[in-house]
Amino acid sequence: MTRSILYQSSKYDGSVNYRWQAQLEYENSHLIILYTPPNTPYSGRRSGILRYPFRSYFWTDRWYNVNQTFLGQDHAELRHYINLGTPAVFRDGAVSFVDLDLDFDMDNRWNLTLLDEDEYAAHSRQFAYPRPIRHRVDEAVQEIRRRVRERAWPFASGLQGPRIRIRPFYWSDLERMDAWQGSYGPFDDPWLIPSPGTSERHYWFANYLDAPICRLYAIEQLDGELIGHLSLREITRGSQARLGIGFAPLAVGQGFGTETLQTFLPYYFEVLGFERMVLDVAASNQRAVRVYQKIGFRPSGEHFRGTDDEVYQWLEDGPHFASLRRFFRRTGWGFQQLHYDMELSHQNWQQQAAVQNQMPNRP
Ligand SMILES: CC(C)(COP(=O)(O)OP(=O)(O)OC[C@H]1O[C@@H](n2cnc3c(N)ncnc32)[C@H](O)[C@@H]1OP(=O)(O)O)[C@@H](O)C(=O)NCCC(=O)NCCS
Repeated sequence: MTRSILYQSSKYDGSVNYRWQAQLEYENSHLIILYTPPNTPYSGRRSGILRYPFRSYFWTDRWYNVNQTFLGQDHAELRHYINLGTPAVFRDGAVSFVDLDLDFDMDNRWNLTLLDEDEYAAHSRQFAYPRPIRHRVDEAVQEIRRRVRERAWPFASGLQGPRIRIRPFYWSDLERMDAWQGSYGPFDDPWLIPSPGTSERHYWFANYLDAPICRLYAIEQLDGELIGHLSLREITRGSQARLGIGFAPLAVGQGFGTETLQTFLPYYFEVLGFERMVLDVAASNQRAVRVYQKIGFRPSGEHFRGTDDEVYQWLEDGPHFASLRRFFRRTGWGFQQLHYDMELSHQNWQQQAAVQNQMPNRP
């Protein structure tokens, strides 16, 4: 059940700035994410209706918070509005902070604009903001600029391909994934997500947030249906990251994987600034291997990894899987499966993309 939370910003003199009822999407010890649904009424300095949905990210130790809008069906762009203010306090069903006038606006192409400097200057004089507060605000302005330059979470862009959109992955997407119908084949490699309601799930998600080593994206069809996810792990900024990708059982084999990578890779190389993408894939997962080869990934090594005895049964019982037996072996350590290491350099991707652009029947 969603929990209703009061979003409340006040001014330095204690007067209400803005307030409205939002929904708690996710919280951990230092981070709170609220979701404000479309057409939410607000009051305060002005009153009216917040027409578009957005998410608000509050930290209990940062002098700013971020409102992130993704309109989905209307367009695939993400917009960020960053409020400079005191660290958030989350108490008695309300998230509150003191708004310190300055704001940043950031568009889908990472253009950052500082707003309301004159209001900040006027209020600094009127309310006599103490020097330590002005110092915190200056530091926060630098921190935001740095995080945006580093493409740090939660800042992101929305991307759109012919049939899909790629956007940040939200906690509420897990519930939508729980409702996916159908089942995977024995050699697919689905994402293993801890069960709903467990603390493991909570920590598992937290690992993807706010950590410089992981990023998580949702893949949806243009009608908004969530069909997959994409993750970057083991991120070394400016150098490389490890890809994870998966689709709903009923969405595999329809070209979405290929389209997603074709949409994501220009962003990965040219906007996020990586030099190389790496992955590992089970040799028996031939559909996945085919997609990676098609995109331009090249083998860079191989290794064996332990696997379930259940897979062994599939190989024994299913004569049509006989061709896959060569990818498995039994050792003193148990049953093992061959995995390929693959990588795609910026240069190889450019070459592959140029070849595909010249093909007459490019998808
Ligand atoms: C792997 C995955 C991301 C690929 O995305 P997808 O949308 O299913 O793949 P696409 O439809 O774009 O492309 C599949 C390609 O593999 C080919 N293919 C399908 N089954 C195959 C098989 N058994 N052997 C060889 N090739 C196969 C298809 O013909 C197609 O190639 P083509 O375009 O040259 O005809 C998706 O299948 C998936 O999510 N699988 C479950 C999770 C998973 O395995 N993730 C990867 C972990 S490394």
